[in-house]
Amino acid sequence: MTEVLRVDPGDPDPDAIARAAACLRGGGLVAFPTETVYGLGVHALDREAVVRLFAAKARPANDPLIVHVTTIDALALLVAGVPRDAHALAARFWPGPLTIVLRRSRAVPDEVTAGLDTVAVRMPSHPVARALIDAARIPIAAPSANLFSRPSPTDAAHVLADLDGRIDMVVDGGPAHVGLESTVVDLSQDPPAVLRPGAVSLEMLRTVLPNVTVRVSSESDSDALRSPGLMSKHYSPRTPVTLYEGDAATALTAMTREAQTRVNRGNTVAVLAFAEDAARLAQLPVRLVQLGRESDPSEVAARLYAALRECDDMGVDVILCRVLTTHHALTPAIQDRLLRAAAGRIVQGS
Ligand code: TXA
Ligand code: MG
Repeated sequence: MTEVLRVDPGDPDPDAIARAAACLRGGGLVAFPTETVYGLGVHALDREAVVRLFAAKARPANDPLIVHVTTIDALALLVAGVPRDAHALAARFWPGPLTIVLRRSRAVPDEVTAGLDTVAVRMPSHPVARALIDAARIPIAAPSANLFSRPSPTDAAHVLADLDGRIDMVVDGGPAHVGLESTVVDLSQDPPAVLRPGAVSLEMLRTVLPNVTVRVSSESDSDALRSPGLMSKHYSPRTPVTLYEGDAATALTAMTREAQTRVNRGNTVAVLAFAEDAARLAQLPVRLVQLGRESDPSEVAARLYAALRECDDMGVDVILCRVLTTHHALTPAIQDRLLRAAAGRIVQGS
């Protein structure tokens, strides 16, 4: 049985937090909200508990975890040293949706780092995550609280859909407001590189680290093995997704044509639709799933994973979507997750 503890996201009940923290200290698995997505927390220094976490998620052992803290001092136990660049990033972006990869200390179990000589660390800003880590008084390793290869959960219902009966508790603090996982930046190598785009954009990082680069990877490339979350097809719904690239009008036309062709062939089709396209798409015999306004990418980011899960739950044959054309700090992160969901089925509008 998985116990659900409902709390006020801004001011969580200390008794509920104390129970969840005691569960974590005892080696239990507790899902909790962060500002990005829900995490599945475990005592980061409890090897056996970490092994149970990998089993609960059906996650391959070669995919390392992020360790969550609430103070810079807590890093001393986890890393070999905190370089000046890490202090500078922390001062600007922590607490918040940024994960920093640093050389690890010996205290961190190999199970957490997948045997790498580095460890990923993050200081979340969500009041529930912070209260829980503070009450537990231990570093908390937490991957996204989904079954491996499913979209990350942005509310407690998504966590239960994947993990009910497989974990001890869910602290339900309402929806995660960013909706996409943290930016991961690797400081263990020179120059530092972004391994996963998130709400802290490359431009934002460059204000602190002018030489930071982006690592582009594919499944065949050895960089993907350095951070398995980078493998394409990692964030995927069960239903195949086809993604339409190009300017809005061209992509919408190509997508509409394909939707009609599929329907004529007897397929059921879901379209992930920006509000701006809704009127045009409403004429098609397809299921429309709202993605929010293209003009407001933060709405799209917050909706994306829930929308992909809705499509799966409908049991349609195919999901169609077009890329976001708005320039915004979140655009590269949204595009990255859409590309992964589509796992290579990309159509260039023409
Ligand atoms: O927003 C987030 O980061 C959420 C919340 C819960 O904090 N967590 C999350 O964890 O997305 P997960 O496990 O789903 O993704 C962690 C990513 C993976 O892509 C993993 O490969 C990478 O971080 N990672 C972890 N440790 C690493 C390391 N030592 N070197 C390189 N990449 C690492
Ligand atoms: Mg994940």
